[in-house]
Amino acid sequence: MKHCLVTGGAGFIGSHLVEKLLGQGNRVSAIDDESTGSIDNLAEALKCPRFHYTKGSVADGDLVRQALADADEVYHLAAAVGVELIARCPIRTIETNIYPTELILAELSRRHEAGDRVKLFLASSSEVYGKNPKSCWDEEDDLVLGSTARARWSYGASKAIDEFLALAYWRQKRLPVVVARFFNVVGPRQSGAYGMVLPRFVEAALTGEKLLVHDDGQQVRCFAHVADVVDTAVELMATPGAAGRVFNVGSDQPISILDLAKKVVGQTDSRSPIEFIRYAEAYSDDFEDCRHRVPRLDRLQATVKHRPRFTLDETIAAVIDAKRRELGR
Ligand SMILES: NC(=O)c1ccc[n+]([C@@H]2O[C@H](COP(=O)([O-])OP(=O)(O)OC[C@H]3O[C@@H](n4cnc5c(N)ncnc54)[C@H](O)[C@@H]3O)[C@@H](O)[C@H]2O)c1
Repeated sequence: MKHCLVTGGAGFIGSHLVEKLLGQGNRVSAIDDESTGSIDNLAEALKCPRFHYTKGSVADGDLVRQALADADEVYHLAAAVGVELIARCPIRTIETNIYPTELILAELSRRHEAGDRVKLFLASSSEVYGKNPKSCWDEEDDLVLGSTARARWSYGASKAIDEFLALAYWRQKRLPVVVARFFNVVGPRQSGAYGMVLPRFVEAALTGEKLLVHDDGQQVRCFAHVADVVDTAVELMATPGAAGRVFNVGSDQPISILDLAKKVVGQTDSRSPIEFIRYAEAYSDDFEDCRHRVPRLDRLQATVKHRPRFTLDETIAAVIDAKRRELGR
């Protein structure tokens, strides 16, 4: 039985990953400080005797060393996430996203030198591409981050440092790492509290509130169902040729945010109005967004067999169902 460690395991993606790994018969441990995640997300997992949960921070060196001591595989997902959180708390974003990755890599390297080959999955983000103006991004594209005076870019920059460091450990020490740049991931359990657009729209539509679309709503994004993303992550980890490489992970089906809002209103039969607000009102005067975010998935599709099982409409329907249950409507 393999022992998998998931950091950020009480989070949105982390909790689905924990369930997937348990479903495969693995022993699974999770660490989470519950800063944006919740133990409620692990209600199913906690029923399984092969699951062990620790509430704590991945910045705690002793805890990380102890948790990594007998892990066979590590999925590092713990991070400060969400545009709103990043704009509000840039110190927390930078510190949470860089130091624990350093700590985990150093500890895995120590085990590697002692003869234990433990693979690391690093959850990175499409934010590392910044505002690259290309219509479709592939993994070799330049990172075009904005000014350091704009806190928003600290998230992409911190994830880019994580990637550089993980790839350096691969290059210099042959520590096996797989880097996944997640594009927008959505699904049941995602919280709208930190700026995530789909859960916010769905909650507004179900409660009769306005759906607030930032700017002109013509920003383009691709939304992938969390189950597809988790399946891809696990398959990448099981693929020897994925080590030492970076992969775009997500959907490549673009939609504008305004069209997403209209779809949510349509699929919920809601009478909620759609209204526009300026970025300055939503975040701050210096907020800068990325207009177009679409991945090229050629490298991923040449490496793994998994293909998305959920269309966007099915994905939105799953979020609506989950939110209805949560709100009791
Ligand atoms: N959801 C997306 O669309 C998306 C897109 C790109 C990248 N990602 C990446 O995927 C990963 C998971 O994101 P998510 O969407 O599930 O967000 P999430 O906020 O639900 O998950 C992050 C988890 O990390 C935990 N955490 C934060 N700081 C911690 C610390 N110091 N110690 C222990 N736990 C800590 C949080 O409590 C939370 O449970 C993150 O690394 C994120 O950057 C997500």
